[in-house]
Amino acid sequence: PVSRDSHVVWQTTKVTREQRTHQGATLWLTGLSGSGKSSLAVELERRFVAEGRPAYLMDGDNLRHGLNADLGFSDDDRRENIRRTAEVAALFADSGAVAIVSLISPFADERRRARDIHTERGLPFHEIFLDTPLDVCEDRDPKGLYAKARRGEISQFTGIDSPYERPLHADIVVTPADGSPAEVAEAVIRNLGL
Ligand code: PPS
Repeated sequence: PVSRDSHVVWQTTKVTREQRTHQGATLWLTGLSGSGKSSLAVELERRFVAEGRPAYLMDGDNLRHGLNADLGFSDDDRRENIRRTAEVAALFADSGAVAIVSLISPFADERRRARDIHTERGLPFHEIFLDTPLDVCEDRDPKGLYAKARRGEISQFTGIDSPYERPLHADIVVTPADGSPAEVAEAVIRNLGL
């Protein structure tokens, strides 16, 4: 890859992180399809912006319309999806924004890499696990995708015939019993001191 070419050197800039108006961070939401990631992410973004904080939601579905339009749902493509999104989130966080990422991100190694990409650059990274049981997600089935996966019309569907590795070291774990997205968003912001 070009980025690893020895002729490419890091260009330093003249704005330090401390000089920026706001200090950024990344909130990384992981969980099954239908686990509630998007509802919480939307509420978090709304709250930050209402308080005058720059914040931006990066939703897996939406990124797959542009930046990640070339990626499917094979293990390798999901890994690249997570890697790219982590790099973009780190840029947003470095700029002073709160990057809110909503991605199934099923692989523990890649979530660890996403964290490393941030911590190596001194950027705060918080992993939030939407711990909603598969049967609850499947009952909700907001997009009818679980039904399609069960009928064999979609392959490699997370939780059905593609794995989801449960986070063991999430900073925050959210279950359906924790309340509405608005209540959880408030609690997350308070707990993380953001
Ligand atoms: S991943 O695993 O992190 O790369 O996935 P992500 O980019 O978050 O995309 C998940 C959304 O894509 C839709 N979709 C699928 N999900 C899982 N498996 C398969 N095979 C699949 N095909 C399409 C689905 O709407 C996911 O959205 P959410 O918001 O998670 O329900």
